Amino acid sequence: MVDDGWVLGIESTAHTFSFGLVDGEGKPYPSESSTISPAEGGIHPRKAAEHHAETAGELLARLLQREGLGKSNLSAIAFSQGPGLAPCLRAGASAARTLSTALAIPMIGVNHCVAHIEIGREQCGCDDPVLLYASGGNTQVITRLAGKYRVLGETLDIGIGNMLDKFARSNGIPFPGGPKVEQHALLWNEDSLDELSLPYVVQGMDLAFSGILTAATKATRNGTSFDAVCWSLQEHAFAACVEVAERALAHSGKTELLLGGGVACNERLREMCEIMCAERGAKSYAPPKMYCVDNGTMIARLGWLELGGGRVTSLVDSAIIPTLRTDDSEIIWA
Ligand code: ATP
Ligand code: FE2
Repeated sequence: MVDDGWVLGIESTAHTFSFGLVDGEGKPYPSESSTISPAEGGIHPRKAAEHHAETAGELLARLLQREGLGKSNLSAIAFSQGPGLAPCLRAGASAARTLSTALAIPMIGVNHCVAHIEIGREQCGCDDPVLLYASGGNTQVITRLAGKYRVLGETLDIGIGNMLDKFARSNGIPFPGGPKVEQHALLWNEDSLDELSLPYVVQGMDLAFSGILTAATKATRNGTSFDAVCWSLQEHAFAACVEVAERALAHSGKTELLLGGGVACNERLREMCEIMCAERGAKSYAPPKMYCVDNGTMIARLGWLELGGGRVTSLVDSAIIPTLRTDDSEIIWA
């Protein structure tokens, strides 16, 4: 372990507030995180931001203590500058400004979506993948082309995780619903889609999930087994993502697929990606689950890469960018 050069990462784009670290060589260390989970209803941005402000102090203290570090070991602060919910992003940016000013060390605002890709590359040791980024707010198929991560295809309405969460919520399951849908899908033993057909929307390289959400919600309301709908929902929605990912591999000629985002924790999605890749002589990679969901470590890792490329964020440029796109950010590292 090196004593200095540590980069602290702050993640706060939505429901999760998280601090993570990489050391001076860019090696990641697990995050300390807290996720708001309302008993009912969705995530209220202002309430999530209050949760972030309240938990920040304790999480940072716990992380530094766990690694035997003090604030003086930190050499830079990285934070999620966007995309995300504005009040939540502001909580993270404020923490970054405060720490950077108090410790007189640089800060670096990074692109949350790119951070999902870079932690995956580091963890899986893949070089030039097509990324299937499947999270709550985002569903994109991305790859590196001409100095940027380009979005080759994406959802035209809601993110796949958002769809799973909303479906679960309409059946009385609080956020996050995705893991519960996965458990219930495993309880369904049939393997025929005949009687459980749901809308399947792929338009060229793009996807859409609001139609399947409505149909699945209706099916459970009309008395179809919840387990059966969970299973069918996963089969349809994941197959659509895998289809677009496969087309991206075919068009780009690339041979590595990387999964990222919270929905990439799902074992069935991982399995479907592995089957598709095996059939076309490609390889599918998925990072450990703690690095699929939102985490401060991925922000620290991308911050470390950007700092290595000479980029820092001044106080005047540190405003949050809630609508930041994956392909807004130039790649200045290898
Ligand atoms: P982003 O800002 O990148 O869109 P996010 O705010 O949605 O991210 P993540 O932590 O990346 O946050 O993803 C959370 C989502 O992942 C939730 O919708 C949750 O239901 C879903 N999820 C987590 N585990 C699973 C699982 N095992 N199966 C399906 N979905 C899952
Ligand atoms: Fe995320």
